[in-house]
Amino acid sequence: MYNVVVFASGNGSTLQSIIDAIQEKKLEANIPLVVSNNPNAFALERAKKANIPIYVIKEKDAKKMDFELCEVLSKYEIDLIVLAGYLKLIGKQLLDKYTIINTHPSLLPKYGGKGMYGMNVHKAVINAKEEYSGVTLHYVTSEYDRGPTIMQTRVKVLPNDTAEDLASRVQHAEKIQLVELLKSFSKHGILK
Ligand code: GAR
Repeated sequence: MYNVVVFASGNGSTLQSIIDAIQEKKLEANIPLVVSNNPNAFALERAKKANIPIYVIKEKDAKKMDFELCEVLSKYEIDLIVLAGYLKLIGKQLLDKYTIINTHPSLLPKYGGKGMYGMNVHKAVINAKEEYSGVTLHYVTSEYDRGPTIMQTRVKVLPNDTAEDLASRVQHAEKIQLVELLKSFSKHGILK
């Protein structure tokens, strides 16, 4: 059993897949806290419904935010942080202190970087007429979507796919892949 803090900025369907896996006893982990930079994120409603404490970031300045988060997180026992649709860069203090992983809805290094999140990614993949998209789980560094890859899954782009169609298949694969990785962490420990 380990403690995983989840950061989410939006809908939180990825967070939900972790909550569900824990509740269905498929994953031996505990979420002591959900963090968001967005007070209106639906992810926060999902956390509340599952009786998980939430924290909304107050600072806007990146350095102050890093300091704020370090202070808040120091009150918890944390083995891992998962960025599940979280749109801010992670600061140096957090990076030095915690193992942090991100899930990204493309085959990085393609379609990553600033501004490449959510539907923007899927629209870009469709516009470029790629044969495959997919999911990348990677360790987080000080740059957007640049850290070492842990695992990738390919998802075929079908001829008549809209960005929404593709998003839905990629997100389905993403949830499976993320929960599998989190399960392997319970078995083998968390690697930096
Ligand atoms: C997920 O597909 C996640 O990979 C992506 O945003 C979606 C969040 O959905 N993250 C990024 O694009 C980060 N660069 P959710 O809010 O329903 O979990």
